[in-house]
Amino acid sequence: MARVQFQNVYKRFGKVEVVKDVSLDIKDKEFMVFVGPSGCGKSTCLRMVAGLEEPSDGEIYIGDKLVNGVDPKDRDIAMVFQNYALYPHMTVFDNMAFGLKLRHFPKAEIKKRVEEAAGILGLENLLKRKPKELSGGQRQRVALGRAIVREAKVFLMDEPLSNLDAKLRVETRANIIKLHQRIQTTTIYVTHDQVEAMTMGDRIAVLNAGIIQQLGTPQELYDHPANMFVAGFIGTPAMNFFEGAKVVSEGENTHIVLEGVGKIEVPEQYKKQAREAAASGKPLTFGIRPVHLEDARLVGENGATRSSIDATVDVVENLGNELQAYLKSGNKDFIATLDPRANITPGKSIRLYVDSERIHLFDSESQKAYF
Ligand SMILES: Nc1ncnc2c1ncn2[C@@H]1O[C@H](COP(=O)(O)OP(=O)(O)OP(=O)(O)O)[C@@H](O)[C@H]1O
Ligand SMILES: [Mg+2]
Repeated sequence: MARVQFQNVYKRFGKVEVVKDVSLDIKDKEFMVFVGPSGCGKSTCLRMVAGLEEPSDGEIYIGDKLVNGVDPKDRDIAMVFQNYALYPHMTVFDNMAFGLKLRHFPKAEIKKRVEEAAGILGLENLLKRKPKELSGGQRQRVALGRAIVREAKVFLMDEPLSNLDAKLRVETRANIIKLHQRIQTTTIYVTHDQVEAMTMGDRIAVLNAGIIQQLGTPQELYDHPANMFVAGFIGTPAMNFFEGAKVVSEGENTHIVLEGVGKIEVPEQYKKQAREAAASGKPLTFGIRPVHLEDARLVGENGATRSSIDATVDVVENLGNELQAYLKSGNKDFIATLDPRANITPGKSIRLYVDSERIHLFDSESQKAYF
């Protein structure tokens, strides 16, 4: 097993720079996720670790070894691709054994490794079948099996679940996490799906336009997004943004005023940053996640002093365990995730309490977070 390091890595295709100054230290045994929208450079980063692309600048280390210029086959990595074509004419056993045979492993060793991997992946009873006799999820596990038998130092997975249906994705996702808990191989996992990233990663690197926007644990990214891109990308439904926020201080109190929408008290821990934001004179954007709004009527008396927003209801989606309410306040549209007891209907007015411990404030121009 091994750590993997990126040191000031760039990748250019002709004049186009698709990876920009990526530095990252992936710990031994860590499950690191690269997440970001299509075209942001995730696969390119992974392919540079695999040796399928060379960095234009910077260094990549696997373990303590600088791997720039090292052949893919000498890097001790195993990769699972999005399109993991299995050999249709070969059995599950032979599909898993293929890479080892190519490398002239002894027969007994191949058998031992394939059976071990099959045990881990629950494929023991399917070893004699051909791929067409397997479900999508089982095929996916064979593809993982091919990587496991290599006993590589690092696993690289590029959207390995993207061709499974929603239910199988969730199931296979859990299988991969279990697999990692068991064999603990350092893994880099690429996805554009933030839910996959949140549920699987020990840490997540959020990429956009070839730049790491933020690196952290799922909770850190959710609670303290560094900028509006991460704030909007992590969490569903996405964070609501209100432009044109004003910070107003009176004596000890500091508020964020949203013209025509409401006035939100800034809690003690964010007062300093809020005042800095005001002093900068720059346009500001207020952020609140839909789940951090609640129907005031369900809160009762002690809510009387809380910060609130008044809105009218546009559309309500009932998911059984929660409501997604599409709301309007002034000329601003936003979403609140409410308790089904909220009992709201389109056209009605509603007062929402804002969980002021969970508010965010951004510089509208640089898009960086003050908190
Ligand atoms: N061989 C190449 N030549 C030129 N441009 C390339 C090449 N490979 C990738 N690119 C470009 O580099 C950018 C990053 O591509 P990459 O495949 O890393 O994106 P990605 O984040 O994996 O996206 P997706 O989620 O769609 O797989 C894209 O704009 C892509 O068009
Ligand atoms: Mg890709």
